[in-house]
Amino acid sequence: MNRHAAPDEGGIRHVAIIMDGNGRWAEQRGLPRLRGHHAGVERVRQIVEACPGLGIRTLTLYAFSTENWRRSAEEVGGLMALFRRYIRSEAARLKDEGVRLRFIGDHGRLDSRLRQLMGWMEEETASGTVLDLVVALSYGGRDEIVRASRRMAEAVAAGRIAPAQIDAALLADMLDTAPLPDPDLVIRTSGECRLSNFLLWQAAYAELAFTDTLWPDFTVNEFAEILAKVRCRERRFGAVPARLVRS
Ligand code: IPE
Ligand code: IPE
Ligand code: MG
Repeated sequence: MNRHAAPDEGGIRHVAIIMDGNGRWAEQRGLPRLRGHHAGVERVRQIVEACPGLGIRTLTLYAFSTENWRRSAEEVGGLMALFRRYIRSEAARLKDEGVRLRFIGDHGRLDSRLRQLMGWMEEETASGTVLDLVVALSYGGRDEIVRASRRMAEAVAAGRIAPAQIDAALLADMLDTAPLPDPDLVIRTSGECRLSNFLLWQAAYAELAFTDTLWPDFTVNEFAEILAKVRCRERRFGAVPARLVRS
């Protein structure tokens, strides 16, 4: 798919989700926060499985932000172990379902065991054509734009490109998400209404949907309801629709 092609009005093919509320879900039950993260993984399985039937071609999940490194060593360590377990336990199923997995973010901070598993999983699923599943891990939108800018500066310094050649398409190609299309819809669970450094460049024209549901309670039914509502919205991309233009 050409990410620079004219957007398909109303077409919601790429959904990005800020999976928030695991900690509060656990706290409400008097459980440790990590139990909320474990419950969250169950939802990931169900939502991923539902995507092809709901007309979704690309799903991007925010799993761990560059700011989440500020959490306690216990929570960060538990999350990293959970990511390793998820990869090990899901690899065969994702491959069978035709899911192609990719990871985005600054992976230099991840431990080598996890990085190895991520690389292996990307290779294992590289031939998947049913769904592109993008997992944002140690990801921050600002960090991604900074790294892309650095790459462009290096290309200029090496004489591979001229400064005048830098445009939006070139910058997009330097981002972690290249060559995937921009998200059409960003959903955030748990009642918070902010992006928290997620896909800052790519979400420029995304529809936004917020729900109070905590991520471990987010069902396929609610997902389908949000999609149905958003698909009725008119996406304008800055233009005035022909039916509103007086002749
Ligand atoms: C989102 O749930 C998952 C991650 C950030 C890893 P939280 O852990 O942020 O849950 P709350 O917001 O504290 O409820
Ligand atoms: C955003 O949630 C990151 C993920 C869901 C992975 P946070 O819980 O970290 O965001 P803030 O701190 O409430 O903005
Ligand atoms: Mg949170």
